[in-house]
Amino acid sequence: MSAPSHGCVPSLIITIDGPAGTGKSTVAHQLARRLDIDSLDSGSMYRAASLVAIERGIDPADGEGLAEALGRVELRFDWETRPPTLRMDGRDISQRIREMDVSGIVSDVAKCPPVRAVLVGAQRQIGAEHPRLVSEGRDQGSIVFPDATVRFYLDADPRVRALRRVRQLSESGLEVDVAEVTEDIRRRDRIDSTRSDGPLICPEGAIIIDTSKLEIDEVVERMVQAVQDRIQEEAD
Ligand code: DC
Repeated sequence: MSAPSHGCVPSLIITIDGPAGTGKSTVAHQLARRLDIDSLDSGSMYRAASLVAIERGIDPADGEGLAEALGRVELRFDWETRPPTLRMDGRDISQRIREMDVSGIVSDVAKCPPVRAVLVGAQRQIGAEHPRLVSEGRDQGSIVFPDATVRFYLDADPRVRALRRVRQLSESGLEVDVAEVTEDIRRRDRIDSTRSDGPLICPEGAIIIDTSKLEIDEVVERMVQAVQDRIQEEAD
């Protein structure tokens, strides 16, 4: 079942779940561009929550305290830019949330049920306001938008994922060690797939794509085709 239509524009929610380094963010932005719809990087919201913990000296395991602090900051996306820029109390935090101190605690923060409750609610609100949306993250198809029109699950070899993450960080000017990033990815996989609330799983009915040996363009092309097929099936 698809999400409800808004006015005369049919809704189109596409979710992309999968572990870190499978190319989810890049693919989500390119897919959104191809389909001329919005894109949501839900991981950036967990990263913002981690930044709140760092800047306000809150223990990353203190879910209640963090959820309360999150209620006191204004977390907004600027939808005028592509991809949308994340702002906290008006400050552009899109680069800051990629730094290693944030990456180092984000899985612990994302484990906290009170934080997940706040952010899942915020993501569903975004879906209601932007009903034509590509939304990527660990639980977008399984928990946040289980009725999405198309659900994808991206996977890839952990070593390939680490190398991609290193390249991505160095392109944004951050030099990091491959071994450190590989270890960080394995540790986060472990935490993300074993947590009790919203664990990383392959959503029911998802289209699985292993991106280890595929170029981004090839992944996007397969996804565009799958979305077009689904839209056609729904129209028939
Ligand atoms: O995709 P990313 O590396 O920016 O995600 C950062 C962290 O946030 C990652 O450890 C898992 C978590 N996350 C989550 O639990 N649920 C989401 N929907 C997105 C990310």
